[in-house]
Amino acid sequence: MSELRFPDGFVWGAATAAYQIEGAARDDGRGPSIWDTFSRTPGKVHAGHTGDVACDHYHRYADDVALMAELGLRAYRYSIAWPRIQPDGTGPVEPRGLDFYDRLTDALLERGIDPIVTLYHWDLPQALEDRGGWTNRETAEHFAAYATAVHGRLGDRVRTWTTLNEPWCSAYLGYGNGLHAPGRRDAGAAFTAVHHLLLGHGLAASALRAAGAQTVGITLNPADVQPADPNSAADAAAVRLVEGLQNRIFLDPLTGAGYPADVLEHVSRMVEPTFIRDGDEKLIAAPIDLLGVNYYSPTYVAGRPDGGGNSAHPGTEGAVEFLPNAEPRTEMGWTIEPAGLSRLLQRLAADYPGLPLMITENGGAFPDRVGAAGPNEVGRVADDDRIAYLDGHLRAVHEAIGRGVNLRGYLVWSLLDNFEWAEGYAKRFGIVHVDYPTQRRTPKASARWYQEVISRNGL
Ligand code: FCB
Repeated sequence: MSELRFPDGFVWGAATAAYQIEGAARDDGRGPSIWDTFSRTPGKVHAGHTGDVACDHYHRYADDVALMAELGLRAYRYSIAWPRIQPDGTGPVEPRGLDFYDRLTDALLERGIDPIVTLYHWDLPQALEDRGGWTNRETAEHFAAYATAVHGRLGDRVRTWTTLNEPWCSAYLGYGNGLHAPGRRDAGAAFTAVHHLLLGHGLAASALRAAGAQTVGITLNPADVQPADPNSAADAAAVRLVEGLQNRIFLDPLTGAGYPADVLEHVSRMVEPTFIRDGDEKLIAAPIDLLGVNYYSPTYVAGRPDGGGNSAHPGTEGAVEFLPNAEPRTEMGWTIEPAGLSRLLQRLAADYPGLPLMITENGGAFPDRVGAAGPNEVGRVADDDRIAYLDGHLRAVHEAIGRGVNLRGYLVWSLLDNFEWAEGYAKRFGIVHVDYPTQRRTPKASARWYQEVISRNGL
C-alpha cells in the first residue's frame, strides 16, 4: 500500500484517565469517589478489582512521562481527579492534589509534550453523590467551581481543556442501567443526569473562557448508527431514535440548537423534563473550540415492535432491536469496523460544520502475547491485532481528512494497560504492557509501531 501522510501539525498522542491509572487512592487528602464505592460493592467490578493501586502512576508519573517522550508522543490527554482537588466536591481545595497535577504538567512540558486536560472522567466525589450526584442541579455549579480552581493552578501552562469525558456513559450507564458508578437504575434519573452534565459543561466552559483558557472543548462518544437494512423505513426510524439518544441529545444543545423536539418527546414518556429550566439551553451552548470524539465500534439497529431494546438506551424496548456484534471483534466483544470511524467523522462535520474535531480515544483490547516472538515483533509483547486495529482506524481517519473533515489529531486509548471500569484489569488496552505485581512497563510491539507512525507523520 502507498504511503499515507497526515497534515503538518497533526497532533499525535495518547490518553488515560485518573481513576484508571493513578492508584494512591488515599494519598495526600484525596476523598472517595463514586468509583471507589462502586468497585467495593460486591458483584459490580470484575473479580472485585479496584483502582486503589492501578498503575501507581501517582508515584511513577516521572517514569511514565519519560516513556511518553521515548515514544515520541506530542500530546498527552490525562484527567484530573476531582476528589483530589476537593475531597468533598465543594469547598476548600486540597493543595497537595493540585501539586500532583502541577508536577505532571511540568514534566510533560519539559519533554515537549502538550498537555490536554480532561476535568471529569467519571470520578465524582462520593459526597456529591450522597446529595444526588448528577441528578442534583447543584452538582453542575460545583463542577464549574472545581474547574475554575484547577484552571487557577494550571491555566498558565495548559492550553487545551476538555470538560467532560463521555457524558453518555456517566448518565446512561451510571444512572440508567447501573453498569457503571454510581450504579443507579432509573431512566428518569439518567435523563436528569444528561441535562445536569451538559449544564455543568456549559458553566465550566464559560468559566474557563473567562479565566483565559485558549481551547475549550468536550469529549463525547457519538455513535455511528447503521440500519440492518438500508432500504427499511422502520430501520431508519430506529437509527434516528438511537442517534437522538446518543448524539443529538448532546450535540444539538452544545452547538446552540437546543434539545431536539423528537428526543424531548421520547424523554417525556419516561420523565417530565421539569429539570430543564428557562435559559439552560443558552448556558449549555457556551462556545467551544474543539469536539473530542471517542470511537471504538459501530452500532447496528433494526426497527421492530417486539425489539428487545438496550438498557443503555432508555425507552428503546419495544421499538429497536440492537444487532449482535459481528465478527471480527476485540476482546471486549466490540465489532472492528474502521469504516464506522470515517463515516462518523464525515457525519459530524456535515451536521455540525465549523467545529474542529479531535479523536480523543480510539484503540482496542486484545489478549497480548507476553514474551512471544513473532515476525513483526519489535517489543517483547506481541500484539499484531492491536497494530492491525490502529492501522485500519488511522487509514479511516486519513480518508475522512481527505474528504474535508477538520480533524486536529489522534490520541490512542491507551498509553498503559489500566483499570477498565467494570472489567477491572481483565481487559488490556495499553500500547504499553503493565505487569501489575511489579508495576514494570514494557512497550508492546504496537508502541514501537506507533512511534514510527508519529516520526513519519504517516503510515
Ligand atoms: C471509554 C472510556 C475510557 C476507556 C475506553 C475503553 O468509554 O472513556 O475510559 O475505558 O472506553
